[in-house]
Parts: sequence; structure tokens; C-alpha cells
Amino acid sequence: MVQSVRKAVFPVAGLGTRFLPATKSIPKEIMSLVDRPLIQYAIDEAREAGITEFIFVTSRGKSALEDYFDDAPVLERKLRDDNKTDLLNALSCTEMDSGAIAYVRQKEALGLGHAVWCARRLIGDEPFAVLLPDDVISGEKSCLKQMVEAYESTGGNMVAAMEVPQEQTSSYGVLDVQDDMGSIVSVKNMVEKPDAASAPSNLAVIGRYILTPKVLQNLSSFERGAGGEIQLTDAIAKEANGEGVYGFRFRGERYDCGSKIGFLKATVAFGLSRPDLQDEFSTFLYDLMATSKAAE
Ligand code: G1P
Repeated sequence: MVQSVRKAVFPVAGLGTRFLPATKSIPKEIMSLVDRPLIQYAIDEAREAGITEFIFVTSRGKSALEDYFDDAPVLERKLRDDNKTDLLNALSCTEMDSGAIAYVRQKEALGLGHAVWCARRLIGDEPFAVLLPDDVISGEKSCLKQMVEAYESTGGNMVAAMEVPQEQTSSYGVLDVQDDMGSIVSVKNMVEKPDAASAPSNLAVIGRYILTPKVLQNLSSFERGAGGEIQLTDAIAKEANGEGVYGFRFRGERYDCGSKIGFLKATVAFGLSRPDLQDEFSTFLYDLMATSKAAE
């Protein structure tokens, strides 16, 4: 039986430069789809998968993230006094048991692998998950939960995977597949951000991982990879021999909220899926499209 996955690492140290000037004073992970920050979606997903310990790898200027998961006594008292029960309920997803969430700082931006390595002491000697909050995944069952279930039969390391257009491989970690078993593939190698011509496939890594502590050991050699950064992909690839690493084709819709267009698409999709907004919002979008078509 595999050891259960209780801890998750959330690398949130990035500067979010693609969203300047907004991210000059707020962390990218606090930017919201409708009314929920990106980080909330990742936390909800981790909780659904059974995660009970949350490790944030942060950097300077990210204190809004710590405040977000703290109690807000003045606000809560005001809402209680005003009988705003629905708003109090809306806050309940931000509650964390004391000690359930921990923060470590990545002092230098040396890459995703380095960020995960910064959490090594808090992870210890057990399997752990990594969730990149930029990748927002909607679906009936959360992506990480699907992975945890699959991992119970495979063990080893597992990465979320999705087919992308060949010309986009240079934006992703890409899998070199040994055996394709449908939703699970065994992996013989992984390459970070290969150009389309040299990519081993178009099966890309999406920001959900279940990893063994061995990957942390691999990271401690500080090898530089694509873009001169310490890459998580390279440290996982060291375990890939057809048995140590699996790709998992999840069911769900993935939005790349690290890009403006992905963030906009997610905003529209999440807005349309909200019962309290969908009627007015869909009428608005429809009218807007009709007006712009007529103007062409
Ligand atoms: C990171 C990983 C990459 C992965 C991607 C998924 O890249 O390094 O392997 O495919 O996330 O979103 P980034 O988007 O941070 O450059």
C-alpha cells in the first residue's frame, strides 16, 4: 500500500510580471476569478484530495497571502452584527486550523525546482503534492483527487498531463512516453520547454504533481536546466525509467491563468457557471458579440 499524501506545496514566490501593473502591489495569486482568488481554487482542490498540511513557498511582497488565510476579527464581528450570514459563510473557505499552513521563503528566484526544494524540511520523508495556482482546473472531481486515486495503484511520482498543440511544447515540461495505458502513461524521460522540433511528444505537464522525497534529493544538486533555472521537471526526470514516473491525463478543463488570455477565458467560464450571475452575464456577452459583429 502506498503512503498517503497529506502535504502540499504551493510555489507562490513568482513576481507575476505578466500582470504588471496590477501585481506591483498585490500577489498574482490573490487576483480573482469572479470573487475567489486563484490561490483559493488551489487550496479547495488540495482539500478535496485529502491534503491537511499546506506549505507556501513565498517571497517578499506576498504578505497579502498570509492575511488572506488568517482570521479577520473586525470584519467577522461586523458581518455577524449585521446578520450577514451569507457573507460570513463565504469567508469560511479561508479558515485554516492553527498550524495547518506554513510559509517558507525562497530568497532568490532560481526556478520552480528550487522553490519546491525550499520546502524540504517541512515535507520531510513522505510523498507530497505540488500545485501551481496559475493552472486552474475545473471539473466534476478535482484534478488532484483524481491523481491521488490513480497514485494509489501506481505509487512513484505522478504529474498531471494534457495534450497541447505541438507548437506550444516550448511553454511546458513534456513527457517522453514509454507505455500509454489511456488515462495513465508510464514515462521514460521528461524535457523542460523543448522546441516543437525536438519535443519527445505533445503530452505536456500541467501544474499538479505527486512526488517522492527522492525528487527533493535530486533537487539538492542544484543543476541548472532550461532558462538557466533549477527545474522541477529535471529532478523528476531523474526518476523516470518507465516505472518511477507516471503521467495522468486528468478529466477537466484547464485554464492557464498565468497568461492574460487564459485568465480572461477563465473569468468568462467561471462567471457563466455561477447560478447567481449566469443569466445576466450570458445576455450581456451575447449582446456584446452581436454588436461587435454588426459593426464589422
Ligand atoms: C511550469 C513547469 C512546466 C509545466 C508548467 C505547467 O512552467 O516548469 O514543466 O509544464 O509549469 O503550467 P511555467 O509555466 O512556470 O514556466
